Amino acid sequence: MNTSVPEQLDTQAIRISDVCKSYGDFPVLKNINAEVARGEVVVICGPSGSGKSTLIRTVNRLEEISRGGITFEGQNIHAAMRASELNKLRSRIGFVFQSFNLFPHLSVVENVSMSPIRVKGLAPDVAHDRALKLLDRVGLADKAKAYPGQLSGGQQQRVAIARALAMEPPVMLFDEPTSALDPEMVGEVLNVMKSLAADGMTMLCVTHEMGFARDVADRIWFIDAGEILESAPPEEFFKNPRHPRAQRFLADLRH
Ligand SMILES: Nc1ncnc2c1ncn2[C@@H]1O[C@H](COP(=O)(O)OP(=O)(O)OP(=O)(O)O)[C@@H](O)[C@H]1O
Ligand SMILES: [Mg+2]
Repeated sequence: MNTSVPEQLDTQAIRISDVCKSYGDFPVLKNINAEVARGEVVVICGPSGSGKSTLIRTVNRLEEISRGGITFEGQNIHAAMRASELNKLRSRIGFVFQSFNLFPHLSVVENVSMSPIRVKGLAPDVAHDRALKLLDRVGLADKAKAYPGQLSGGQQQRVAIARALAMEPPVMLFDEPTSALDPEMVGEVLNVMKSLAADGMTMLCVTHEMGFARDVADRIWFIDAGEILESAPPEEFFKNPRHPRAQRFLADLRH
């Protein structure tokens, strides 16, 4: 299926068309159709096991799909391509996970500057300067020389965000970036995400932080059992969820 559209003609950053995915006989994603416009912030929420991580991981092809298509800036992500092409594509999609996976033997600034040097071929001193600016942006300018093991979870996650931003991706994906953190560190990571959103970054975020969803998201996708049952602006979703399963999900959260 060729869903490619020339990049400059596609107003959507991400288009997900008729996507299905199964593990064996078990359908995890059922006919997903959704779009993320440039500059839009979308929050994906839904019960555990509903397919949120699987869906977000198909967007940079960490997961293959069984049917359908996904385009990123007009380019078909799931087309046949060489590993080098896929890596190039992936380097343009920032991904922040629950676990930060920083390199423990590299300093913070080295963690942030590594990919621009290795993948983009940036001169080390240029990459280093840019990394320092990004660390400043996430409030960690004073930790540049520290090692990940010397940082709190919230600080490590902010380094992970800076590391993803170092590749200058037009889109950032987040899969529960705060759920491994102690409660007092959640806010500092959400604030960094809020400032990214305010700067116009296109973001697709799986999170249980409904305050963030309410304040920052342009649109919420509610997913259950592999289907997007509702896609609505937050004020509509929280005030007046239409699908009974979305109503139950929100009622359970309030308890
Ligand atoms: N590699 C796999 N093999 C088989 N089944 C899998 C695999 N990965 C995920 N699943 C199943 O797919 C479904 C969706 O999983 P997924 O991790 O996407 O859910 P989720 O919405 O992210 O859940 P959570 O909120 O707990 O993170 C679950 O039923 C899960 O057990
Ligand atoms: Mg998940």
